[in-house]
Amino acid sequence: MIGWQRMSDFFVKHFGDEPEIACCAPGRINLIGEHIDYAGGQVLPLSISLGVSVAVRATRQGLLRVVSDEYPGQGIVTLDGSTAQDGPAGYVLELARMTETTSAQIAILSDLPVGQGLSSSAAIGIAVQCALLALKPDAVMPSARAVCRAAQRAEHLALGTSCGIMDQYASMFGSPGNAILIDTWQETHQAVPLDSLAGCSIILVDSGQPRELSASQYNQRHAEMTGALNEAKRLCGGFNCFREKAHDELLTIAEAMPEPANRRMRHLLMEQRRVGRFQDGLRERDLKMLGRILYAGHCSLRDDAEVSTPQIDTLVEMLCSTPDCLGARLMGGGFGGSVLALFESPPDEFLMAGLLRDYAGETTLGGRWLQVEPGPGAWLQSGRGSWRSVAEWL
Ligand code: GLA
Repeated sequence: MIGWQRMSDFFVKHFGDEPEIACCAPGRINLIGEHIDYAGGQVLPLSISLGVSVAVRATRQGLLRVVSDEYPGQGIVTLDGSTAQDGPAGYVLELARMTETTSAQIAILSDLPVGQGLSSSAAIGIAVQCALLALKPDAVMPSARAVCRAAQRAEHLALGTSCGIMDQYASMFGSPGNAILIDTWQETHQAVPLDSLAGCSIILVDSGQPRELSASQYNQRHAEMTGALNEAKRLCGGFNCFREKAHDELLTIAEAMPEPANRRMRHLLMEQRRVGRFQDGLRERDLKMLGRILYAGHCSLRDDAEVSTPQIDTLVEMLCSTPDCLGARLMGGGFGGSVLALFESPPDEFLMAGLLRDYAGETTLGGRWLQVEPGPGAWLQSGRGSWRSVAEWL
């Protein structure tokens, strides 16, 4: 995560003054529970030690002046609340609106690899809002959950992605050494210790595959899944959350549905079951079982949710036949992005280099890998060494 000194230097370079305060919000990986967070499922992500840092200073000009290290050539973008904006600028504007801020200097820095499905947009959503809220300590503060919901809404409105709430929750409520079990129906969460993974390595391999169509196809899957869920609800006489009904009863209903609703529904039910089993595997320290669950999750994302690609499938198969790799699967929204792999011990550099060479040979794509370290959820910083957890502050 970018430290205070770098944030401050960047801020001074562009705005001339020191920032008043900054919020750092982490990216996330997801252990299990994919494409079910918008359908009331439970998911098991964790916040990582890389993320987005947003430094801010209040002004009186009635304008938002924004600079981001992701667009180095662009310099400062000036946003006036009355003008409609598209894309990233529109997103920042929407986030500022959610905090009722019309005047501030905002610098956004990130050390999250872009386009790898580590959820930089959710981290921006949390960090921008919390930094701006921290500029008005006398205002009535929203709850941390309300900030997550507002960040999700801003993504829907400004970026056009009908995302669930997993990424924002993970960025806000994550804690070192733990995954976070999120009940996306109740909007509650609890820490799940990862002690049993001590000595193992969580590896993320970037497939090198661009995700240009991701937003539209993601939204399509969202519509198909929720459509299938509504149909199942009708067929079995109604429920609030699908988890109220017996798994087998819903599975029987799903099997009788037409294509592709049957497979979408099966993914939802089986993925929810995998989230439960994964926790059993962690409790029992059954590493082989965890690996099997990951791979089964991949097969379901490939065949039932249909969010994988042939290149990602190739990468998953290669990883799964690598010594010490317990299991692997596509991670995140899909249609490109990264593969998550669980290794019994830190993977051998030469072995991984060879794997990526073979992958490039088969797909012409250049992959990269990194080892992921769990880190804390979002925090505020007002100088070097002074920091405070956002979830505890709000
Ligand atoms: C993206 C979305 C999340 C979630 C995942 C798939 O990361 O932002 O809400 O739906 O895809 O599990």
